[in-house]
Amino acid sequence: MTEATQRPEVCRDPSRAAELLRQGKLVAFPTETVYGLGVDATNAAAVERLFLAKGRPQNNPLIVHIGSLNQLEQVAASVPELARRLLERFAPGPLTVVVPRHARIASSVTAGLDTVGVRIPDHSVALQMLQQAALPIAAPSANRSGKPSATTSQSVLEDFPSGIDAILDGEATRIGLESTVVDCVRFPPRVLRPGAITLEELRTIEPAFVDATSTVSPGDNSPGRLHPHYRPAARVILVESNDGVTADTSAAWIGMLEHPQAEQFGWYRRFDSLASYAQSLYESLREADRRGLSLVYCSRVAATGSGAALADRLSRAAE
Ligand code: TXA
Ligand code: MG
Repeated sequence: MTEATQRPEVCRDPSRAAELLRQGKLVAFPTETVYGLGVDATNAAAVERLFLAKGRPQNNPLIVHIGSLNQLEQVAASVPELARRLLERFAPGPLTVVVPRHARIASSVTAGLDTVGVRIPDHSVALQMLQQAALPIAAPSANRSGKPSATTSQSVLEDFPSGIDAILDGEATRIGLESTVVDCVRFPPRVLRPGAITLEELRTIEPAFVDATSTVSPGDNSPGRLHPHYRPAARVILVESNDGVTADTSAAWIGMLEHPQAEQFGWYRRFDSLASYAQSLYESLREADRRGLSLVYCSRVAATGSGAALADRLSRAAE
């Protein structure tokens, strides 16, 4: 069998995952947000294989993951003062800071940009793996491009029955939505993708922070936002209320809203908090596909505060 047709090795040992990363292999691993698909960010050939495995457009840059702040100088050519203050406050955590790229990072990682997104995940197994690898690890979400991100190792294996080398097995991810991405290179600093670190929290560090999440255009330096994302095979429809939504066995009903005939949908899932809705959104969309349902009704949430990230992913899943 060739490398590409083999099933990935499932391992539980972060040092094994680190060893494979050092050999230029593709290794999926859990973080607090979603599973990542990691590769040595200094190995251009390995990075190219990752883009192919994911089916990812070449113009969508990857986030580089490090195991501690000491590694920052290996990734960033210079560290803007704001980036340092943000990382001191929020790292390890669900925040990616965009900073000037170090020449050591393969230019394919950043899609040719002279900036790079860096983050330190708040997940003990991921941190052990990153510290032992002692390399900057580029890692997009561990899903086939365009699909909902993988938040369980089962979903990673569904998307990559082959084509990747290993998966560091772990629990379902705690947050369930990808990190907040902020641009610290330009002033005023901008939020490029909403996540668990909210605009309000960022403004406690720098009041000038601007929300650029809904105004992103090609010149706006957040290429990933231009591609379709988070979409299951089923059609996603966002609803404000259950008025006029008739229960249907070929549809799923998910979200925080009650439906009087919830049991008569093909599948339903009700959440009692924004956090649990966010944590299970992608897995729920994937579950609708596993069940062969053609439609998913998702209840809308207000796009403010801690709801901003969830509202963003819902609207993109429904585009
Ligand atoms: O939570 C996360 O961030 C997860 C886990 C695995 O860490 N990773 C993740 O990676 O979501 P990915 O590749 O699915 O999304 C990366 C996002 C894209 O929207 C991309 O455009 C943006 O980050 N990005 C990366 N580098 C950038 C840069 N230099 N400038 C602007 N945006 C950048
Ligand atoms: Mg992604």
